[in-house]
Order: sequence, then structure tokens, then C-alpha cells
Amino acid sequence: MAKSTPGSRPGADAPPPSGTRVVRARGTAGGPAAPPRRVRAVPSPGRSSVAPAGDGGPVVIPGSAAAGAAAGVGPTGRPVPVFPEPKPLRRHGPARVIALCNQKGGVGKTTTTLNLGAALAETGRRVLLVDFDPQGALSVGLGVNPLALELTVYNLLMDSSVSVRDVLLPTAVEGLDLLPANIDLSAAEVQLVNEVAREQTLSRVLAPVVPDYDVVLVDCQPSLGLLTVNALTAAHGVIIPLECEYFALRGVALLVSTLEKVRERLNPDLVVEGMLATMYDPRTLHSREVLARLVESFGDRVFHTVVSRTVRFPETTVAGQPITTYASSSNGAAAYRELARELLAR
Ligand SMILES: Nc1ncnc2c1ncn2[C@@H]1O[C@H](COP(=O)(O)OP(=O)(O)OP(=O)(O)O)[C@@H](O)[C@H]1O
Ligand SMILES: [Mg+2]
Repeated sequence: MAKSTPGSRPGADAPPPSGTRVVRARGTAGGPAAPPRRVRAVPSPGRSSVAPAGDGGPVVIPGSAAAGAAAGVGPTGRPVPVFPEPKPLRRHGPARVIALCNQKGGVGKTTTTLNLGAALAETGRRVLLVDFDPQGALSVGLGVNPLALELTVYNLLMDSSVSVRDVLLPTAVEGLDLLPANIDLSAAEVQLVNEVAREQTLSRVLAPVVPDYDVVLVDCQPSLGLLTVNALTAAHGVIIPLECEYFALRGVALLVSTLEKVRERLNPDLVVEGMLATMYDPRTLHSREVLARLVESFGDRVFHTVVSRTVRFPETTVAGQPITTYASSSNGAAAYRELARELLAR
């Protein structure tokens, strides 16, 4: 029978009573290290929020008191390794190209591209961010007005006389450059259909600058259309951000099958770098359940680093800069620095 724990009781969403110490994330300081306890997730009737992803068996609820009590256990319910400070590089390139991809909207693709990129640049890596979404949110997030641009990724894809260096913009962050996009890019999806080797277009236009960078991050739009397939064909790896919310796991099967097809037909070396849980709220049973199901389904492919929900991220968009400069000592900045270390350690 399921044990009653703070993490499994109905009503566990409420904050703990005062005086109750809920140890979250890696917090184990001071307390005796208890072995990890396994508890069954029992959502209250009518609040069953997460479809069983695996066999539906017992799982440790990450972030719960049970999980937190275990020595060194992080929010994903696994012991957290220490990721070393990245060593300075003596020379740069060629870049590892990584696509940030999920056809679900609003899961943190752009936020992760921008802030992971800035965190990598802080480690001395040369980073190129590619805005590959006609919404141009990545460009806006870096303080660029996409509508005022003469040349964007669209021109790069469609006009062979435009070179990637014509479109590149430096940013206020040292070592971080941007290939901006705007609404013009939406036309490329249709126009590329008639091109020869249409899926390889991004790969081809990026090639001249890949030797100059250590990491290229491509921010995909929320679809699995031709632009996203271009990003997946140009990439060595994929990061899949997933919001710790109700339908997070819906659509992941479709995404995984698209990745399989791209691997079979276009890019045999494509790997999943990892799945990143975003907008995590350790106070809610719901958020912890989603994370538990994610780890149950995808195991070590889920990054140890988890990005919590905080209003600082929407604020950074207004400020037009990454959180690492806008709120350098915030938890959000720390999370993306941790993700940068974890990525480089993989
Ligand atoms: N950890 C977070 N906490 C709070 N808000 C966040 C967090 N991460 C992202 N957001 C906010 O959520 C919204 C969606 O994020 P973002 O634009 O990064 O998602 P996306 O997957 O790129 O969306 P789209 O599919 O539309 O391109 C933005 O307003 C962003 O500021
Ligand atoms: Mg986006």
C-alpha cells in the first residue's frame, strides 16, 4: 500500500506548515542522510494530472520531502553529480550545432536558447544563436527590433548572394552572436519546398561559420515543418525543453518519431543531448509529478538541471537581455549556468 507522505497526500500542493523543513533540490545540508524512499504517486480524485508514461509503477516524487531527504538527490529524483567548471579554451571551433526543439508552443525553447547561449559565452565559449522562428522572439530577447532589419536568416536561406557574415549581429554579451529572424522567415517554409536539397539549406548556409564557434544553438519554431527539419538536419544534437505542466508529455512521441525519421533519412549522427524540464514549481505536487513521469520515461536523457518558474524570465524579454546579465545572481541565471556546465560535461 502506498505510504502517506507529504509528497503523496491529497492537498500536498499547500505550503508546508511553518516549522516544517522541506528540503528541495540538492538541499541535504545539516540533516542525517536518509536512504531514498520510494513512494507511489497518488493524485487526488479529479486531479489526476499526469498520464502514466511507463508502467505507472511507484516513483519517487522529485522535490518531495521523501526525495529531498535522500542525500544529494536533485529535483529529478536522482543523485546530482558535480559538474566541473569548464576549462578555458585555447582555440575555438568547430561548433557543436544544437537545435532547441519541441513542436509544443511556450515550453521555453527561446528562453533556453538565449540563456544557455549566454551562460556558455560566460565560460569563454564562442556561441552563435540562430533565430529560426518567424516570431523573432530570440532576436527581441537580445534587444534587436526584427522588423527594422534589412537582412535576416530568411535572406540567407533564399538568396545565394547573401553570406552568413552579412547577416550576423554581435550582441552585448561578449562571445555571443546572433543570426536574427523576423516574419519574412514564414515565407521560407513555402518557398523552400521547390529547392533542391531543401532540408539541407540551413546546414549549407551555416557551414562557413561553424569553424569559428564552439556552440551554435538553433531556436526552432513550434512546429515540425520544413524549417524545423532543416534545423534537425544541420544539428549534431537536440535539446528538448518540456514545461512541467499537464500536457508536457503529449506530442513527445511524435517529436521522437520525427527525430528518428531525420536520423534515418537525413542526419544519421543526430543525438538527443537531453530533455530539459522548465517552469518547474517545487511547491506543487503537479509539477513534481510531471518531472517524475519524465524521468520515468526518459531516464538519463533528462538533464539533472531543472529550470524553475520565475517571473524574472518574462522580465528579461522586456529588458532585451539574457538573465545572466539582467539578474546575474538570480536562481534563473544559476540554473542556466548549471545547464551549461552539465551540457559541456556530457
Ligand atoms: N522558467 C520560466 N519561468 C517563468 N516563465 C518562463 C520560464 N521560461 C520561459 N518563460 C516564459 O514563458 C513564455 C514562453 O517561453 P519561450 O518563449 O521561451 O517558449 P518557446 O517554447 O520558445 O515558445 P514558442 O513555441 O512560442 O516559440 C515566455 O513569456 C517566457 O518569458
Ligand atoms: Mg520560441
